Amino acid sequence: MKIAVLPGDGIGPEVINEAVKVLKRVCTLKGHKLELEYGVVGACAIDECGDPYPEKTHKICMEADAVLFGAIGHPKYDNDPNAKVRPEQGLLKMRKSLGLYANIRPVNTYKSLLYKSPLRSDLVEGADFVCVRELTGGLYFGKPQGRSEDGNTAYDTCVYTREEVERIVKLSYLYAQKRRKKLTLVDKANILATSRMWRQITKEISADFPDVETEYLYVDNAAMRMIQNPRSFDVMVTENMFGDILTDEASVISGSMGLLPSASVGLHTSLFEPIHGSYPQAAGKNIANPMAAILSVAMMFETAFDMMEEGKMIRDAVEKAISDGIVTEDLTTEKSYSTTEVGDYVVSQL
Ligand code: IPM
Ligand code: MN
Repeated sequence: MKIAVLPGDGIGPEVINEAVKVLKRVCTLKGHKLELEYGVVGACAIDECGDPYPEKTHKICMEADAVLFGAIGHPKYDNDPNAKVRPEQGLLKMRKSLGLYANIRPVNTYKSLLYKSPLRSDLVEGADFVCVRELTGGLYFGKPQGRSEDGNTAYDTCVYTREEVERIVKLSYLYAQKRRKKLTLVDKANILATSRMWRQITKEISADFPDVETEYLYVDNAAMRMIQNPRSFDVMVTENMFGDILTDEASVISGSMGLLPSASVGLHTSLFEPIHGSYPQAAGKNIANPMAAILSVAMMFETAFDMMEEGKMIRDAVEKAISDGIVTEDLTTEKSYSTTEVGDYVVSQL
């Protein structure tokens, strides 16, 4: 297994360090040969070579079987509207260059952590769905984008081609088939031309998946239903910007951002990352929750290598750590453990 490791910024290196410990241990236990190749991305790459996703990092990713990525972002760029390059551009460039058109974010709950959810536990218990967010089209990449000469008009363009919609909708149906066989297309077809095309194409493709129930939901309604009745979703598919917003909303349902992994898949090497950001306030303090990064390794085994047993080993070890109370401070009001202690405990439970 050849893995590109991109720790990135902020708490990225700390959580990825724990994830790599878990990765190494599972490979030893299961007899897989592991090769790690490290690369820079984000603010640390700008500091090093002026490019948030340098060519040498891209090469490492292209030559790997999977990419394990931490987080991107640094506060020194947040308050500088004139910064020429921003760490986030590295992320967009990486997604585009690797052709990662589908971002897959599973949302589930842990019984012992239900009390952490901002929603009532009777609503949240048993919620288990997957958001599939389109990642390389829409408003994020549409041209033209810019400002008029006098600066008083600004514009972004939402563009989708049939091919872009077809491939992600098909992928989402395949996920739904392996789960509870329900697919929800989230759009704004009462207003947007792109959404009307998404709906039309989804209707066409639904004919090939008669065993899957298809539901169409406007994004405003979806945002509401996600907190009113999160259990009503199985697989949700949506365009880039709606997905960006809805996946943040979805991430709090389980009680902690620190628990959710994600996969981005597409044309080239798949990428696995915790959904949380670089959390610069916590960087270097050994307090960040490494669980989402560790669970990203589980998703990597399952998605990129079809090694379900390895994934399950990691999930079980994480659940054991949670139920034994060996968790970082974001998950408990009682005694908490450091990033490295939590990682070591998970390793010991494998
Ligand atoms: C995410 C992030 C990114 C996005 C930013 C950092 C560019 O919010 O992965 O959801 O908007 O896609
Ligand atoms: Mn986001």
